[in-house]
Amino acid sequence: MQALDALRDGAPAHPEPAGQRGGRLTRINPQSGEQLSVEIVKIGHAPTLAVAMCSPELRNLLDPAPQIDRLAGCPAAGLIPTLMAMLFVNVQNMARWVSETGPEAIISGMTEALERNFRRWPEFDRTPRLAAHSPVGVIELMPTTDGEAYTFKYVNGHPGNPAHGLQTVTAFGVMADVYTGYPTFISEMTLLTALRTAATSALAARWLAPRDVDTMAMIGAGSQAEFQALGMRAQLGISKLRVFDVDPAATAKFVRNLRGLGFGIEVAASAADAVRDTRIITTCTADKANAAVLQFADVTPGAYLNAIGGDCPGKTELDPRIVEEADVFVEHTEQTRIEGEIQRQAADFPVTELWRVIRGEAPAGSGRTVVFDSVGFAIEDFTALAYVREAVTGTRYAEHIDLIAGPDDPKDLFGMLGAPVPA
Ligand SMILES: NC(=O)c1ccc[n+]([C@@H]2O[C@H](COP(=O)([O-])OP(=O)(O)OC[C@H]3O[C@@H](n4cnc5c(N)ncnc54)[C@H](O)[C@@H]3O)[C@@H](O)[C@H]2O)c1
Repeated sequence: MQALDALRDGAPAHPEPAGQRGGRLTRINPQSGEQLSVEIVKIGHAPTLAVAMCSPELRNLLDPAPQIDRLAGCPAAGLIPTLMAMLFVNVQNMARWVSETGPEAIISGMTEALERNFRRWPEFDRTPRLAAHSPVGVIELMPTTDGEAYTFKYVNGHPGNPAHGLQTVTAFGVMADVYTGYPTFISEMTLLTALRTAATSALAARWLAPRDVDTMAMIGAGSQAEFQALGMRAQLGISKLRVFDVDPAATAKFVRNLRGLGFGIEVAASAADAVRDTRIITTCTADKANAAVLQFADVTPGAYLNAIGGDCPGKTELDPRIVEEADVFVEHTEQTRIEGEIQRQAADFPVTELWRVIRGEAPAGSGRTVVFDSVGFAIEDFTALAYVREAVTGTRYAEHIDLIAGPDDPKDLFGMLGAPVPA
């Protein structure tokens, strides 16, 4: 990465393409009038040029349009959309970005981005996540690609962690460029997972939930809860919350965090009390068990259940009868049959994938109770990573990190060691 450092220090890239100013290339989008810019990075042998963090929109405006076959020779005349400079968003910067942009605004923006990607669902690789189970939790890798970018998320789920002062869910994610295989972006994803899960809940609610409801019941007031409340308000206009958690400290934290954000909040005495006469229900509990945080008799017929907490074999939230008598919607059927509420149903239990509803290929329900059996799918993390990368590139929230070895001569990796000590 000496060349990148040199560029930062003001050394000119060679040769300088039209529009480049001090290491940045700019183009105006003729449709929107928006100015798009990208950092030009000089890497390895001169005169190789690479365009770092080049959005597909900007890539389309580059003339000549960069071609994949240019990558092989790295011709000086071309701009190569190789994403060589690795951007990193750490926890502190993620928290600042979310706080200063507003979590509700981000969840809303991400909901739109998710809808765009759900509409092109068949373009993505879709495999159930790779899970390593232990008696206390699970560690998972969630990969996907759309043929241009590749992402994976590392995530765990350990419901007993809070008793030890640790979180149930932690995560980080990586995005890579399919053309070169180079990673381009790495980000914390514990906060980002909460945002993307809220955005997924909002997207499902947009297509599946009743509209004329201002109150939502929430069972579970842990890490995901406030984000879920904001997502459902942004999408459905929910203004009142009825919350129940078995842990009064979690409930008190939930009330404290949301008090200044304009919700009316009622603390319920039980789950049944929370969902009484309520047509929108979010369950976001964590228990490594086939729990039944809600009983069939508690749920108002025709209600909408956004069930996000049952997401692992042997870890479910709902009385199975609720699911049996509902229209059930899922993200990726193959994964949800392993991890979701429907793991307790027959292998051919009928479900509908949400993307089909969004594309107009399947109905949004038949008037029965609706369950969105959410487990979280890799395409949502892909979307979240792409969304954040786009939002923070060129801002103080993102920093370059030196993660990938970049020898001046790509075949001389050993040369990076300088004069190593002999054995
Ligand atoms: N579907 C998704 O995409 C997705 C994404 C993130 C997290 N999750 C899951 O959502 C759940 C919540 O995650 P979190 O990070 O908020 O966990 P958390 O541990 O911070 O909070 C869970 C809360 O549930 C409460 N709880 C447990 N059993 C309960 C019960 N019977 N009734 C009422 N409350 C109960 C706990 O006291 C705790 O406050 C977890 O199971 C997690 O794995 C799903």
